[in-house]
Amino acid sequence: MAMSGNRILLKGGRLFAQGKFIDSDILFSDGIISRIAQDIVPEGDMKVVDITGRVVSYGLVDVHVHFREPGFSAKETIATGSAAAARGGYTLVCPMPNLKPAPDSLETLGVQLDLIKAQATVDVLPFATITQRRAGGAVVDMAALKPYVAGFSDDGSGVQTAEVMREAMKLAKANDCIISAHCEDMDEPPFSASSEYRQVERDAIMAAEIGCRYHVCHVSTKESVEAIRKAKAAGASVTCETGPHYLTLIQADRVDLNDPAATLADGGRFRMNPPLREADDREALIAGIQDGTVEVLATDHAPHTADEKSRGYDNSLMGIVGLETAFPVMYTKLVKTGRISLEKLFELMCDNPRRIFGFGGALAEGQKADVAVFDLDSEFTIDSSKFASMGHSTPFDGWQVQGHCVMTIKDGKVVYSE
Ligand code: DOR
Ligand code: ZN
Repeated sequence: MAMSGNRILLKGGRLFAQGKFIDSDILFSDGIISRIAQDIVPEGDMKVVDITGRVVSYGLVDVHVHFREPGFSAKETIATGSAAAARGGYTLVCPMPNLKPAPDSLETLGVQLDLIKAQATVDVLPFATITQRRAGGAVVDMAALKPYVAGFSDDGSGVQTAEVMREAMKLAKANDCIISAHCEDMDEPPFSASSEYRQVERDAIMAAEIGCRYHVCHVSTKESVEAIRKAKAAGASVTCETGPHYLTLIQADRVDLNDPAATLADGGRFRMNPPLREADDREALIAGIQDGTVEVLATDHAPHTADEKSRGYDNSLMGIVGLETAFPVMYTKLVKTGRISLEKLFELMCDNPRRIFGFGGALAEGQKADVAVFDLDSEFTIDSSKFASMGHSTPFDGWQVQGHCVMTIKDGKVVYSE
């Protein structure tokens, strides 16, 4: 029986549905999108929200976040991470497995799943590791873990041995799982472009041969983009993501290099792995987005404590937060500047990750009522002290942007409202 208060009607918005914009009202009933139509007449028990001039997307997806539980609750909890996700317009996020214990078996994954069940306010679907203890040796039991995970990743480290990756790819192929690889070859100079792209090249060739679904995490170099472009052209199921920081910043933009008043924390705000690159890398990533080589935007939301991020560029821990800034930064720097369309941005942040990882979901009648509403017009200044995340270190602090999320609805309930 329908209870009162579980129907929400959004009136007057612009909906991004099936690849195009339509002006329409949208009604949610009992956690489901029950109607998309113009001029839906409000009834007594509906909560009616006027969203004239605002844009509605199906819930954004981030396939690369770090929620630090189990193991590192001082950096982020699943509760604070999912609150940050909701504020950013995300209704589904996938935490990476560099945790304690690392989710490498039903038992260790179970520890994480229990915490998710107790705390998450958006969908949190974790990655299991590729190798046991994330140590780069024996491959996990993918068949057993598959029902509970987004895919498999040793994020935080690359899989150094080609034979181990080959075995993982064969297992992924046999079980129709996706591998999401942090590519970093420890035989190359630390943080060099080659440390990333050599491993992307190695894996892209193997993935094409084996025919498995293979996704590259946080691509930052022009050579990686080219390796993925080639693999796609050869018909391989190879995909990749990049992050807002690689599309908007380069090494020369570091505040700690440019501003005599910069603090050690300012250095820390620009410290992540892979690092910021050069202008030609940034341009190659944008070109990769434009031609479809780069299909996914993921934040690599990687919170650390204030102390861990206050040790300068060289000594701070690697990682910046991103869930609460990704959409406005991308809207302002890529869409407003005319480099990509708004349609493309929603594809990168919603449709494409849903398709590639097989999550499903769409802005259509009968689907789960998971949506985000954005105000594209009003300007605001990013203020990291206001984040819901426990992590506050971001290179975007103080940026003047547009495109903030005003409301996020998950399973028909408002999980964030400004
Ligand atoms: O910057 C990063 N932070 N890169 C990684 O690969 C790991 C992540 C983390 O867990 O903090
Ligand atoms: Zn990584």
